[in-house]
Amino acid sequence: MRMQATAKANTNIALIKYWGKRDEALFLPMNGSLSITLDRFYSITTVEFRENLANDIFILNDYPSSEIESNKVSRFLDKIRKMSGTNLRAEVISENKVPTAAGFASSASGFAALTAAAVKALNLELNQKELSLLARQGSGSACRSIYGGFVEWYKGERADGIDSFSKQLLSEDAWNISILSVLVESGRKKVSSREGMKRTVETSPFYDGWLQAVQRDLDTAKEAIMSRNFVSLGKVVEANALKMHATMLGAEPPILYWESGTIEVMQHIQSLRSSGIQVYYTIDAGSNVKVLCLPDDERQIHESLLKLPSVKKVFACHPGSGITYL
Ligand code: PMV
Repeated sequence: MRMQATAKANTNIALIKYWGKRDEALFLPMNGSLSITLDRFYSITTVEFRENLANDIFILNDYPSSEIESNKVSRFLDKIRKMSGTNLRAEVISENKVPTAAGFASSASGFAALTAAAVKALNLELNQKELSLLARQGSGSACRSIYGGFVEWYKGERADGIDSFSKQLLSEDAWNISILSVLVESGRKKVSSREGMKRTVETSPFYDGWLQAVQRDLDTAKEAIMSRNFVSLGKVVEANALKMHATMLGAEPPILYWESGTIEVMQHIQSLRSSGIQVYYTIDAGSNVKVLCLPDDERQIHESLLKLPSVKKVFACHPGSGITYL
């Protein structure tokens, strides 16, 4: 019998951000976070464990990937091999339909799909919580992509991390909101989220303030989601993103992900809001902006964004599903 499986995972966007690790090796966060899994950008990964392989092979978008990436995948597969008691190497073929141009990180969907496919290929019986615990150890935000819709990732307290996993708050069908991913002109190479959060935790005097505020933001966002209160959710999502970026401005050396186009979009959203439209934004570790609005306003906002000089593309997304097997 072939030890092979294929899984698909969608990427997710954080509404309340994960920023900072309390354990680098286990990918344990300093704070809880909350996200929406999206319907449009995904990874499809096939894993096959075989007798005759000397090393793991990792093919990404039709090309053998770099040594650094292959080593990350291999180290991650080691954890799954240990769980099943096998030494077999694997061939991993992954297709990332997460255009970096869309401003989304592919690591969340990539590690979620890899986890699901590798576990199934080895016939390990894991539930979704266990998959989430495992995916977290490939890339933190991947633990949220196991589930569809609105998802919370618990910070956990334990040193071994077994209480730091995700759980679905609302399914993808329960509340339809629109997320417009706005790609702006950008020239500079950005600091990776891994490096950015490490530097912030170690050097920013504002980081304590972040930790004091983020639990309150999480509670407000959860309540807004459960009562489908878009205005309350939008307000806390935007404020939380700005707080995260404020912590980075205090780091040494400071980190500023925004470009002039980022600010152009932020100000445009503020002016749409003063004209009475319910629209908010969030920004991750990069220059692109994700705009949250209600589906009825999506078209008008999409068209208005395309008129801004620094906007290159706008991708309209909605809540999507968790992992599926193909
Ligand atoms: O898991 P990573 O290394 O992709 O970090 C994600 C960091 C943010 O996107 C800024 C926030 C988040 O919660 O996704």
